[in-house]
Amino acid sequence: MARPIQIAPSILAADFGRLADEVLDVEAGGANLIHIDVMDGRFVPNLTVGVDVLKALRRTTKLPLDVHLMVVEPERHIETFADAGADIITIHAEAGVHLQRTLHSIRQLGKRAGLALNPHTPESVLKYLLPDVDLILAMTVNSGFTGQEFLPQVLPKISAIHKMVVASGHDVNIEVDGGIGPHNAASVAGAGADILVAGAAIYRSSNRRDAIENIRSLAELR
Ligand code: DX5
Ligand code: ZN
Repeated sequence: MARPIQIAPSILAADFGRLADEVLDVEAGGANLIHIDVMDGRFVPNLTVGVDVLKALRRTTKLPLDVHLMVVEPERHIETFADAGADIITIHAEAGVHLQRTLHSIRQLGKRAGLALNPHTPESVLKYLLPDVDLILAMTVNSGFTGQEFLPQVLPKISAIHKMVVASGHDVNIEVDGGIGPHNAASVAGAGADILVAGAAIYRSSNRRDAIENIRSLAELR
């Protein structure tokens, strides 16, 4: 049976001056997770939020916090983010030397372990890691900024990841992130994604509930 579609608004596209209200708005609008992009200015060109913002959001919302670490040496930070209230901690395959160890440590901290792949990274990196991941994040833009254009060449990779996950029998979510919106929700879900991150498509829309429902219902057409 297909997994239910989950929508994860990315706060990177929200108004940071009113962040708590922006998060409560999508919670009331039916979001399933809150996606938080942590960028260090090294792994990606941009700098965003750190652990204090995560703590504040933990006090604000009841929704699970989906932390996407776009940082070098992610193993140095996972305990801090786990203590601050992350529910899912996703590290990048390109940022780690001992990925299995780091993914295992995330689980040891009682959190769900995610592994993100930049658009150019082949799914083969997952081959020996499937027992250690709860979530695979296929980036559909080059990490770093909200509002970029979706890269359709990632679609066959999403299908390949989905096949690998099904064949493995492991319980793993497939998340997509970058340029997701009504125009591609059905195709990414059709390829096997079940968690859709969306920044601009939700936060730049005047009615966030409608935006979330629209993306969800198009994805459910998969
Ligand atoms: C990009 C981030 C995304 C981004 C998504 O590196 O990981 O989560 O905020 O924003 P949109 O949906 O606007 O591309
Ligand atoms: Zn992200």
